[in-house]
Amino acid sequence: MDKKIIFSAIQPTGTFTLGNYLGALQNWVSLQDEYNCCYSIANMHALTVRQQAKDLRANTLNAYALLLAVGVDPQKSIAFIQSHVKCHAELNWVLSCYTQFGELSRMTQFKDKSARHPENVNAGLFTYPVLMAGDILLYQADFVPVGIDQKQHLELARNIAQRFNGIYGDVFTVPDGYYPKLTAKVMSLQDPTKKMSKSDDNPKSYITILDPPETIVKKIKSAVTDSEALVAYREGKDGVNNLMSIYSAVTGRTLEQITEEFAGHGYGDFKQKVGDALAESLRPIRERYAQLMKDRAYLEECYRDGARKAEGVSQRTLDKVYKKIGFLAR
Ligand code: TRP
Repeated sequence: MDKKIIFSAIQPTGTFTLGNYLGALQNWVSLQDEYNCCYSIANMHALTVRQQAKDLRANTLNAYALLLAVGVDPQKSIAFIQSHVKCHAELNWVLSCYTQFGELSRMTQFKDKSARHPENVNAGLFTYPVLMAGDILLYQADFVPVGIDQKQHLELARNIAQRFNGIYGDVFTVPDGYYPKLTAKVMSLQDPTKKMSKSDDNPKSYITILDPPETIVKKIKSAVTDSEALVAYREGKDGVNNLMSIYSAVTGRTLEQITEEFAGHGYGDFKQKVGDALAESLRPIRERYAQLMKDRAYLEECYRDGARKAEGVSQRTLDKVYKKIGFLAR
């Protein structure tokens, strides 16, 4: 039987946080054997926020290198940069004519972002979920691993696909979300009731996957916990819970095993172990990334090859769409 198809994408926002890694990227890597995976650097989506050209260019390459560094295998999966495949822009236009203004107005991310940045409420910010729907539908994806923040966008992609299929027959696979049971939701180290985020003003609140070992240990040591001096996963112990789930994610140990391991130990000891284990588990990624960044030719070869493969798949879908909607063939 043919493998099912997975599509996902990540925006090139400088380096990725531990949250991006444990919550998404690590999972992308592990899906590669069981599924045909397509992973994209969503640099077109990144344009909805004002960017310095040279930063966007550098961040796109860095993000692509990180994708490979964490273990996305360009032989097994299609790893490409969104703007390299023109079908994305083209399908975006078509789908925008099958998406209602009212639907886009209801997107909570649009409402949040436009409220937070009233100085740049551009049309792209508004139609962003249509571009995202196109990304997914071009590859006829069966499953889309996304965080809950993208769930509403994925739901819209399903609605667009169903609507289009309702008019023209089965053109698109209707994608399902893929929400793995095991991925850790990584919280801020300084305010563990909030998600870990790079846009946090306090750099001590987040760890990036390229942080050097000393920095990682230092940040974990200064993580907010509580005054109970008890390593246990419980309601109200958000700081400790967060460190426990990070430790669990990097060592594979269960929460019970961790509780046992640290019975009778203070937080100092616990934090040292978490910091060391984390720094060690990110070491191969850091090393592989440094290696890749020294080999620009190899990276170029990979993203060109990825773009060619992505184009092959997506052009087929786009051709079908153009035919169905009545665009005269050239
Ligand atoms: N919008 C997603 C985010 O910001 C990134 C993204 C773009 C994406 N296209 C996608 C995710 C398609 C899943 C599928 O996280």
